[in-house]
Amino acid sequence: MTKTIFITGASAGIGKATAKLFAQKGWHVIATMRRPENEKELNLLDNVTVLPLDVTNLEQIKETTQKALMLGPIDVVFNNAGYALLGILEAISDEQVVRQMETNFFGVVRVTQAFIPYFREKGSGLFITTGSSAGLMGFPVSSMYDASKWALEGWSESLSYELNEIGIGIKTIEPGLVATEIGDRSVIVSHPAYQSLMDKFMALIAHGENVTTAEQIAEVVYGAATDGSDTLRYVCGEDAINLYSQRLANGDEAFRAGIKQMLSANQQI
Ligand SMILES: NC(=O)c1ccc[n+]([C@@H]2O[C@H](COP(=O)([O-])OP(=O)(O)OC[C@H]3O[C@@H](n4cnc5c(N)ncnc54)[C@H](OP(=O)(O)O)[C@@H]3O)[C@@H](O)[C@H]2O)c1
Repeated sequence: MTKTIFITGASAGIGKATAKLFAQKGWHVIATMRRPENEKELNLLDNVTVLPLDVTNLEQIKETTQKALMLGPIDVVFNNAGYALLGILEAISDEQVVRQMETNFFGVVRVTQAFIPYFREKGSGLFITTGSSAGLMGFPVSSMYDASKWALEGWSESLSYELNEIGIGIKTIEPGLVATEIGDRSVIVSHPAYQSLMDKFMALIAHGENVTTAEQIAEVVYGAATDGSDTLRYVCGEDAINLYSQRLANGDEAFRAGIKQMLSANQQI
């Protein structure tokens, strides 16, 4: 039987690449996005249904979940929508703080809550979330983005026990730097007192030649959806795998010292 995946943030980047890959593999894809009227590609594919969803809008989450469930059984929910609020906390407004958590964290929580009763009654289902290596390690001038992704880590790990109990899976994809439009959509808040740190950090994350593509991450999502395991975390991208294994091997204090060293040497991650 044809399987179905429900994706948030499918208008671009990892979400769109995942929608295309699953469609190619013969899945029915429910590709949700804030502005379906602007979509020019996914709406042309036979086995893709495009629905509107802003993950900060609780009413719309409920409506779109109902519409999606009326289309037929759903096997996987891919919580992917997100953006990066980067910069200096002192200069970040309360509204920006709230919006970051509303999108990257509460959006995932609320979409998950909307689907749990359905998966529980069905006795199966899988949630996959796009976390980040920034959910496993703290990087400079990204305290709010990292907080939103660290929140997802504890939430997913804790939730895995109750969901596994009723036959539901939960997994998190942890990419390092991925070449998407996230840079253009990020909010970057600077403050003159920290300009030097800001400049060094931006140089540190400047995209190198070996940056992972959205298509490579989509393959990891596909693997997670189909490998039948109950693995929680899929660290992916050479940069994330290297950095995270160094952190596990050397501990978090040595990791922080290493980041400071990279900043002072003006290196790239
Ligand atoms: N790129 C990286 O280096 C990287 C690394 C690790 C993790 N991630 C994570 O990967 C996920 C996807 O990011 P990406 O790199 O593919 O970036 P992207 O190309 O900017 O795509 C982000 C997607 O999220 C959507 N989105 C943002 N706010 C939304 C909201 N309130 N409701 C619904 N959709 C919303 C965007 O929709 P609009 O078109 O409406 O803006 C877009 O479809 C994010 O969770 C991000 O944190 C990215």
